[in-house]
Amino acid sequence: MPGVAVVGLQWGDEAKGKVVDILTDQSDVVVRYQGGANAGHTVVFGGEKYKLSLIPSGIFRSRVQSVIAGGVVIDPKSLFDEIDSLVARGVTIDKNLMISDRAHLIFPWHKIEDAILDSANRHEAIGTTMRGIGPCYQDKVGRSLAIRVGDMYKSEFNQRVEFIADMKSRRLSGLVGDLDEKYSVSELKTELDARRIISEYTNYAERMRQYVCDTTNYLLDAVDADKRVLFEGAQGSLLDIDHGTFPFVTSSNSSGVGISSGSGVPPNFINKVFGVVKAYSTRVGGGPFPTEQDNETGEMLRNRGNEYGTVTKRPRRCGWFDAVAVRYAARLGGVEAIGLMLLDVLSGFDILKICTSYNVNGRTYDSFPSQTEDLRLAVPNYETLPGWDEAISDVQRYEDLPPNAKYYVQRISELVGKKIELISVGADREKTIHIN
Ligand code: GDP
Ligand code: IMO
Ligand code: MG
Repeated sequence: MPGVAVVGLQWGDEAKGKVVDILTDQSDVVVRYQGGANAGHTVVFGGEKYKLSLIPSGIFRSRVQSVIAGGVVIDPKSLFDEIDSLVARGVTIDKNLMISDRAHLIFPWHKIEDAILDSANRHEAIGTTMRGIGPCYQDKVGRSLAIRVGDMYKSEFNQRVEFIADMKSRRLSGLVGDLDEKYSVSELKTELDARRIISEYTNYAERMRQYVCDTTNYLLDAVDADKRVLFEGAQGSLLDIDHGTFPFVTSSNSSGVGISSGSGVPPNFINKVFGVVKAYSTRVGGGPFPTEQDNETGEMLRNRGNEYGTVTKRPRRCGWFDAVAVRYAARLGGVEAIGLMLLDVLSGFDILKICTSYNVNGRTYDSFPSQTEDLRLAVPNYETLPGWDEAISDVQRYEDLPPNAKYYVQRISELVGKKIELISVGADREKTIHIN
């Protein structure tokens, strides 16, 4: 069974990093296939905590090949900062990392565009991570102003950067001042100085050369040779550009539908999609969130779950588990089994609620509405369950969970319509209950 994928079924930060790290034990190759340094995946083992952005969470097992595939957008500065900090902590990163020559590059203009356009978006900002993700994907789809990793090694690279820097500078000069006070036209000129950018990116290109190759071909060979390939999703299904809560989404296919397009591996090689969910819900940035608890309950979830962004440190919005949203995401991704994460955070709540349907303008929805406006008006219908007081972080077997915790897990499985194969009761690799 060569292909297993891990995707988030909520709005990101479901603890995908932990699940990927665990499953890497049974893998030969681990692949990041979409997103970029907007992702922040945490892996904890041996008393150490690692935060990963672009590097696959399988990197800690050096016999495993880590691949950054063509669907990812790469900010070379972030990449090398991350590599340097991991290497400084003793992690091996050399031939065990491959980077696709098809991946698109993030340039300084993408970050400026992100800053200017996010706040210009309608009445509510998307609240992006400001990593230049949306503008880079925009240029990829637009084609004319895009630069891929492989382009850095071509003779026309300098000329291309000069041309694009000039185009961007002229376009953005018309926007600064109008839409944004963060940049003046003269600051823009300094930030987008083509000569400086060429010199910086030429250095990155040299450093990156050892990792760069045709990863699509490599992965196709790997699945043909029956190697065990693990696909690591970033963000969450409800942030998917096509199927999420548009426009409050990221700019890639972050649900299960993006695995093949981002990696180049056809769907018939993906034998199992593993969906990852928190035992409650969180969201960072703008957009509708029907079960949000902007009150003491939300505070309690945030404090107990330490719900602050891995990348931007922003406090995450917190709320009850939304079975309507997760059922939708699980179906969309062809999910076979679920990892239920951060269950320990719920110890000490008198009652717990699970959203089972929404009321929108007098109509009951038990499926996820396609229109963000409907979702914004959605009033959740909840099933209320009894909580439990016991700390459960040391529990290793399902049978040893408090009865109310088992009941909560069982109801989530029933309402989402998927079996739960893994329960996480703490950040560490070892704090995991496997269910057969
Ligand atoms: P990802 O982006 O999906 O990989 O998730 P993040 O790393 O952004 O956020 C998940 C957070 O929860 C990280 O700080 C993890 O270390 C932490 N975590 C993972 N599993 C558990 C768990 O079972 N219990 C608790 N309390 N924390 C967990
Ligand atoms: P991981 O992989 C949570 C959110 C941002 C914003 C929206 C668009 O750690 O789960 P972007 O910078 O992508 O254009 O921002 O998406 N977002 C995430 N939220 N976890 C993430 O990644 C996210 N990556 C992007 O907060 O609302
Ligand atoms: Mg994260």
